[in-house]
Amino acid sequence: MSSVPAKLLQTLQQHHQHRLLACLQLLPPAQQMALSATLADVDFDLLQATWLSASQPADDHPSVDRAALAQAPSRVVRQPVSAADHQAWALARSLGEQAISAGTVAVITVAGGQGTRLGFEHPKGLFPIGPVTDRTLFQIFAEQILARRRRHRADLPWCIMTSDATHEETVAFFQQHQYFGLTPDSLHFFRQGSLPAMDAATGQLLLAAPGQLALSPDGHGGLVTALARAGLLELLQARGVQHLYYHQVDNPTAIVADPALLGFHIQQQSQATTCVVCKTSPTERMGVLVDLQGRTEIIEYSELTAEQAAGQDQNGQWIFWAGNTAIHVFDRQFLASFCEAGRQLPLHIARKQVPSVDETGQPLPTATDGQPNAIKLERFIFDALPAATNTLIVEGHREREFNPVKNKSGSDSADTCRAALSRIAAEWLQATGLPVDPQTVYELSPLVALDVNELVNHHQQGTLPTITRTTAGCVIATAP
Ligand code: UTP
Repeated sequence: MSSVPAKLLQTLQQHHQHRLLACLQLLPPAQQMALSATLADVDFDLLQATWLSASQPADDHPSVDRAALAQAPSRVVRQPVSAADHQAWALARSLGEQAISAGTVAVITVAGGQGTRLGFEHPKGLFPIGPVTDRTLFQIFAEQILARRRRHRADLPWCIMTSDATHEETVAFFQQHQYFGLTPDSLHFFRQGSLPAMDAATGQLLLAAPGQLALSPDGHGGLVTALARAGLLELLQARGVQHLYYHQVDNPTAIVADPALLGFHIQQQSQATTCVVCKTSPTERMGVLVDLQGRTEIIEYSELTAEQAAGQDQNGQWIFWAGNTAIHVFDRQFLASFCEAGRQLPLHIARKQVPSVDETGQPLPTATDGQPNAIKLERFIFDALPAATNTLIVEGHREREFNPVKNKSGSDSADTCRAALSRIAAEWLQATGLPVDPQTVYELSPLVALDVNELVNHHQQGTLPTITRTTAGCVIATAP
C-alpha cells in the first residue's frame, strides 16, 4: 500500500476500520491515493465517539430532560394586535428596508438536501410549485430577490448552498434560465460538505463502491463551515454585508429578506433572530424555540411527552408554542467568530437504510423489512442559536409565511403549498377590490407584488398587469 500514508493506515487500524484497510489493499495506486485523500478529511475520533454513544443503551447515558427545564421564550416580538404593535412593526420594517438599501443584507438559501420524503428525483429547488404555471421554487425566490433589489435599489447578494447531490444540476438550471434575470455575479453557489455513513453494528464506514465512501450532505448546519470554506464570509464582509437572512428552499412563501424580521434583528442588536409560528396544537410535530438556562434552544417534538407538550406557564400560555419555521437572521460577525474559534455544530444521528458494498464490490445485504443498517450524521443550523449571546424570537404570520413542501402527500405537501400560494394571491386580489372566484386557482408573480399593498397600489394606479386566464387558473405576472 505504497500510496497510502503510514499515518492514515495507523489511524484506520486504531479505529478498527478493517473494511477500509482491505479495500485500500485491493485498489490500484491511483484509487488508493484518491481514497486516502478523502479519508484524510475524516475525523475518526469524532465518528467513533458518536458511534459509541449511539450504540449504548439509552439507560447507560440518561440525557438531561431538557423539556423539564425549558421555559417559553422571553425575548419575543409577537404578531401585531394593538395600534402600538402596528407602529412598532412599521418601524422595524422601515429599519429593515434601510438596511437592504444600504447593502448590508445578503440572502442565504440552503438547497443541499436530498428531499427523500418528497421523492423528487432532482434538487428540490427545481420542483414545480406555481399552482397555475408550475413555476419552480428557485424561480419564485429569484423573482422575490429581483423584485426586492428593484424596490430598494440594492445589491442584495444571494448565496445558494448546494451539496454534491444537488450542485451541478442546480447551477445548470440557473444557467439554462439565464439566472432568472439576476446578474450572475450577484449569485454565489457554494457546496456544503459531506459526512460518511457508518455501519450501525460495527461503526465501520460504509462503501458505496470500492474506493468510494457512502457519503451524504452534512445537514443544513453544514452552512457555517461551508460559508467560511467558500470564502463567502470574507467576501460579504468586504461588500459591507452585516446581516444574513437564512431560509430553506422548500418554503416558497418565506418572505425573502423580510424587512420586518431584519428590522427587529437590527433594532435589538441580536446575533441570531428566528421567525416562529404558533403551533396549531400541542402535539403538532414541530420543533419549538424555548429559553433553556438563559439560552435560546430548540426542543424537537420527539423530546416532549404529550403531557409536557401541553404544558402551560403561570399565565395559562403554552410553554412550547413557538414553532420553528427555519427562517433566521444571523449576524455575519457572529458566524465568522464561531468559525474562527474552530467550533463545529454538534452531530445528530439518524438510523437509515444505506446500500453498501464490501471491499470487493459485492453488495452487502440489507433487511427486507427496511430495518436501518446504518447511522447517518447531520449538523443542524439551529444548534448555532445557543452559541449566540443575544437572540430574538419574532412571530411570523403562519398562513402567509410558512407553507413548506416536505412530503409527497398529506400535510406539508405540494398540494397544501400550492393551495396556500393560490389562497394568498386570491386574498391580495380581493384587497384590490377586484372580483375573486373561490373555485379558481390563482398565481401571482413576486415581480408584480411582494406584498398586498404593492398589488393594491398597482390596481389604483392602473399598472396592474393583465390577468391571464388558462385552463389551470389565473396568473398575474410580468417578464423578469
Ligand atoms: P430537510 O431537513 O427538510 O431535508 O431540509 P431535505 O433533504 O430537504 O428532505 P428529506 O428530509 O430528505 O425529506 C430542510 C432544508 O435544509 C436543506 C434542504 O435543502 C432544505 O432547504 N438541507 C438539508 C441542506 O441544505 N443540506 C442538508 O444536508 C440537509
